[in-house]
Amino acid sequence: MNIFQTMEASTPTLPKKYKQMNADELTYRIRNIKEAMGGKLFLPGHHYQKDEVISFADVRGDSLKLAQMSASQQEAEAIVFCGVHFMAETADILTREDQEVYLPDMRAGCSMADMADFAQTEKAWEKLMSKFNDTIVPLTYVNSTAAIKAFVGKHGGATVTSSNAEKMMKWAFNHKERILFLPDQHLGRNTAYKLGIPLKEMAVWDPIKEELVYEGDVNDIKVILWKGHCSVHENFTVANIHQVRKKHPSMKVIVHPECRREVVKLSDEAGSTNYIIDTIAQSSPGSSWAIGTEMNLVNRIIRQHPDQHIISLNPNMCPCLTMNRIDLPHLTWSLESIAEGKPVNRIQVDKGTAHDANKALKRMLYNA
Ligand code: 13P
Ligand code: SF4
Repeated sequence: MNIFQTMEASTPTLPKKYKQMNADELTYRIRNIKEAMGGKLFLPGHHYQKDEVISFADVRGDSLKLAQMSASQQEAEAIVFCGVHFMAETADILTREDQEVYLPDMRAGCSMADMADFAQTEKAWEKLMSKFNDTIVPLTYVNSTAAIKAFVGKHGGATVTSSNAEKMMKWAFNHKERILFLPDQHLGRNTAYKLGIPLKEMAVWDPIKEELVYEGDVNDIKVILWKGHCSVHENFTVANIHQVRKKHPSMKVIVHPECRREVVKLSDEAGSTNYIIDTIAQSSPGSSWAIGTEMNLVNRIIRQHPDQHIISLNPNMCPCLTMNRIDLPHLTWSLESIAEGKPVNRIQVDKGTAHDANKALKRMLYNA
């Protein structure tokens, strides 16, 4: 059995009755439970969630905002996370032990987070330490498993989000002369470049081949980028930008820093999910934009700004498939199971891992 088959076998699956309910009935049931539970229930929703799901969120935000909101929850007894697995883990780490976190569908993972596992990270660290001695601070994008956050916390490092990666890189350079950046090479490269670090001072760690990919003098290396990426944002290409420039010469291009360096370089603007939302909201009627980020969000921005001409940078993009696992049937199931006292799909990070991961998260929340 592979890991997915094992997960399927050990995870309860959506009862048939929820698949047979129509949207009106599901919506009615969700509303009823939210009303009945009031402040005891908290529903954070990431901007990449489907419209019908995010419409129920008590707060919507990017990864940073949702981490901050989870950390400040006092009243909620149950937190049902409308997002992906690593976000629910983060919420569990940042909340009290008596507060329970649930993910409506356990299959809502993140392919990028899965690109760095604990054993690979330990091996990489050992090899990098023998090459560079104690000169490296590890930083991990929050889009990583709790185990990786714990590894980073234990070794004096911190988490980052796309909203605070620059601040956190500066923080890291105040401590040591090099950074190991997990697991998204593109966010790491784009951020370091923005801080003035030339590409020739960046190396890539290949966790499969267990080798450092670099052509110059290793003493010049300032940033070691883990060879991981977001399978959604990697679909925006230089060719897409050329097409937009040709067809709409006055259109501006704005992308998420999870896109490749070449794409960010050719864009007019790059920034986190929140940055993209705010930039479009603040631009004047008649502005035109091509956006390079997840499609649920792009479609929402298009609907919210009918006075602007907005398109997806890649006309053939799909939404993030794992974000889309959270749908009305799963949300209803999750809420009703909690209301009935037989909750399913609880996210519970073990105490040891949570303790170290919390150090990495707190360093970010206090410093960024
Ligand atoms: P942010 O919410 O930090 O912009 O991250 C985007 C993302 O890919 C979340 O999975
Ligand atoms: Fe992961 Fe990318 Fe989906 Fe975000 S958009 S959850 S990084 S695969």
